Amino acid sequence: MLGKSVLRLLGRTGASRLSLLEDFAPRYYSSGSLSARDDARDARAYFTTPIFYVNAAPHIGHLYSALLADALSRHRRLRGPSTAATRFSTGTDEHGLKIQQAAATAGLAPTELCDRVSKHFQQLFQEAGISCTDFIRTTEARHRVAVQHFWGVLKSRGLLYKGVYEGWYCASDECFLPEAKVTRQLGPLGDSFPVSLESGHPVSWTKEENYIFRLSQFREPLQRWLRGNPQAITPEPFHHVVLQWLDEELPDLSVSRRSSHLHWGIPVPGDDSQTIYVWLDALVNYLTVIGYPNAEFKSWWPATSHIIGKDILKFHAIYWPAFLLGAGMSPPQRIYVHSHWTVCGQKMSKSLGNVVDPRTCLNRYTVDGFRYFLLRQGVPNWDCDYYDEKVVKLLNSELADALGGLLNRCTAKRINPSETYPAFCTTCFPSEPGLVGPSVRAQAEDYALVSSVATLPKQVADHYDNFQIYKALEAVSSCVRQTNGFVQRHAPWKLKWESPVDAPWLGTVLHVALECLRVFGTLLQPVTPSLADKLLSRLGVSASERNLGELYFLPRFYGHPCPFEGRRLGPETGLLFPRLDPSRTWLVKAHRT
Ligand code: MSP
Repeated sequence: MLGKSVLRLLGRTGASRLSLLEDFAPRYYSSGSLSARDDARDARAYFTTPIFYVNAAPHIGHLYSALLADALSRHRRLRGPSTAATRFSTGTDEHGLKIQQAAATAGLAPTELCDRVSKHFQQLFQEAGISCTDFIRTTEARHRVAVQHFWGVLKSRGLLYKGVYEGWYCASDECFLPEAKVTRQLGPLGDSFPVSLESGHPVSWTKEENYIFRLSQFREPLQRWLRGNPQAITPEPFHHVVLQWLDEELPDLSVSRRSSHLHWGIPVPGDDSQTIYVWLDALVNYLTVIGYPNAEFKSWWPATSHIIGKDILKFHAIYWPAFLLGAGMSPPQRIYVHSHWTVCGQKMSKSLGNVVDPRTCLNRYTVDGFRYFLLRQGVPNWDCDYYDEKVVKLLNSELADALGGLLNRCTAKRINPSETYPAFCTTCFPSEPGLVGPSVRAQAEDYALVSSVATLPKQVADHYDNFQIYKALEAVSSCVRQTNGFVQRHAPWKLKWESPVDAPWLGTVLHVALECLRVFGTLLQPVTPSLADKLLSRLGVSASERNLGELYFLPRFYGHPCPFEGRRLGPETGLLFPRLDPSRTWLVKAHRT
């Protein structure tokens, strides 16, 4: 049984925002500090999303899972070192009772349904800029080879036996449930039917002879793994939940179904009367992608980070590591867990008609706008509520007004007629705060700004490591606000280039603001790739100058040369992010498969 605190964690809605920026002492951010640490880590990184069921078209929750993985892998690629290799896989989960039943209901052959919906996912991910290196479908021949090989390894290690399984099965969740996790729900006619306590989906009683996996043997090894790797499951509350689950009994697990009942799947090797359990089939996708069972997979395993939703934690944090340990392999390095999107406070569901179509959102809010919204508002620890007004408000205030306005203020011809990155004057803005002199213009708040932006890349990297991408964006946004405050304070529009007194300070104000914008643009690349490209191109930052390893912020302040000083800005290509019209908001209605 789940404890109360566990249920709260897995089911709580309504996010609250934790804050925020810690007070960092001024310090020069050098590329060395970030990439040197990365050098010490494994050069390879493999990110995965869950593979998506093809029983229905994708919704924003699916896109969110994929975006989190996309942002993590993009950030990792930017971080280097340049020799590091990053792989990022996603795909579709096409076997099992759920798909078999969905195809029958739609009057389609299962392959037809799979082809159709898998294509939807591929198109959506392409449109949304999901930079996956691999897309796997579990109906591919390479996957069948991997699953059957994996099965053979478990069998040869004495971990599978035949036995009778009797109990509840939930086809929607594709899982077996103990009595304690089943409750009764009233139907429209006052009749009651059994449902899963956690998901609310209907369950049915099954009794059949299956292959059973000796899961019970893995309770202690799993506890040792989790206790020895406190970062294995992030955020921490989910790590805690899994340890709590492991305090309870861990029964053996049925890992096949009678083929007469479930024909849509991979047959058990040597026994066609049984089909392999869809979760065992699906989890092995993470190995298929990296070439398993060929030895090449070893260069990617276990340097793996699985990104998953909270509803599939048990499968990834208990079953999967147990299968791997059973097959003589290590559990994955990291499991990053996120919560769910609700719509106007309700769970998204076809029957409620409140499923939000991600393609409509991408069209309406632009790809970068919607990516920014989901990643800025999505809090892994808690469920988040979706409604359109929230998107419009956030994007107008943070991308259009704050960031776009800042860029405009520093690059507009009337303020920056030469359209260059102006020179930084060290006498106007000495590196020692508190100096006084006739030409010193910088104030205490200006030093605070430099300090905030100098430490921002490290802070952002830490938030990515802790799977708190929304905090990384919150930190960037806070620095954007601070930079706007800096520009407002010194009102460069009131200073004159013709005045020998004003000119060095005017150039310095613009130089500092442009340097801040360069940092923001670089850090936003994993989340808003096109918008960041537009921003950096406008600043004249070349493609080879956009890595985190080369991000030397405001070098002139620290006595180093600045490669951008005196450089021409890039061409003006219009507003960074045009404001959205708030009167045009509506709640996006359901879509159909
Ligand atoms: N096929 C399994 C995963 C197998 S992985 C070896 C599955 N598929 S799913 O399509 O149901 O879910 C895929 C992902 O979408 C999961 O991470 C799930 O948590 C996520 N989401 C589904 N609904 C969601 C929301 N409403 N909000 C956020 N994410 C949600 O489970």
